[in-house]
Amino acid sequence: MRFSILTLHPELVRSPLDHSIVGRAREAGKLEVEVCDIRDHAPGKHRQADDAPYGGGAGMVMKVDVLDAAITAARSEGAKVLLATPSGRRLDQAWARELADESHLVLVCGHYEGVDARVEELVDGEFSIGDYVLTGGELAALVLVEAVGRLLPGVLGNDDSAQDESFSAGRLEYPQYTRPRSYKDMDVPDVLLSGHHAKIEAWRREQSDERTRARRPDLLVDVDPADDAR
Ligand code: ADE
Repeated sequence: MRFSILTLHPELVRSPLDHSIVGRAREAGKLEVEVCDIRDHAPGKHRQADDAPYGGGAGMVMKVDVLDAAITAARSEGAKVLLATPSGRRLDQAWARELADESHLVLVCGHYEGVDARVEELVDGEFSIGDYVLTGGELAALVLVEAVGRLLPGVLGNDDSAQDESFSAGRLEYPQYTRPRSYKDMDVPDVLLSGHHAKIEAWRREQSDERTRARRPDLLVDVDPADDAR
């Protein structure tokens, strides 16, 4: 799968993509990420990508003609183009799973002061990573690459780990422990040392339900019963 990130700040997004699981997956050719400088499509010596808003007001607005040229250059046959904006559709695990089936995602990073409204006509959709306002779409694009990229085949070492985790079945993940068995009066639950796999599984499920009820009861509405049969 391929991602193209269109940004005015290429250096801001490059480094996080070189590390950890996404970095290794890129090296292994499991996913491809290109970072495109929107200013490469801005004409003139000053490569101006934004301008003052019609009607007046503070701040600068990203230009539709420059974004159109950048999107056209990045788009491939069958690509899905998404604009990062706080007014977009909220990214969640279910949508990340759907996006993992795309072949090419083009992510357009707006800046906080605004983007010409006509850009909405040039993209296939808009996404938000939450109800707060960032200074630009760059961190949002990185979040999407991470959330979608880790679901691609072969990106996580163990194919089970993308399944058996928070949100996969509309539940938070059960608690995990490793050595030492006892630390500052905090002990690892005995059941995990029992070697009894059925009991361990039942305990994990119970913990996952309990945690979800206590911390994110909103997840318990709209659970697909098919997903619930873990
Ligand atoms: N740009 C600014 N804030 C954003 C958000 N919350 N999600 C996506 N893009 C954004």
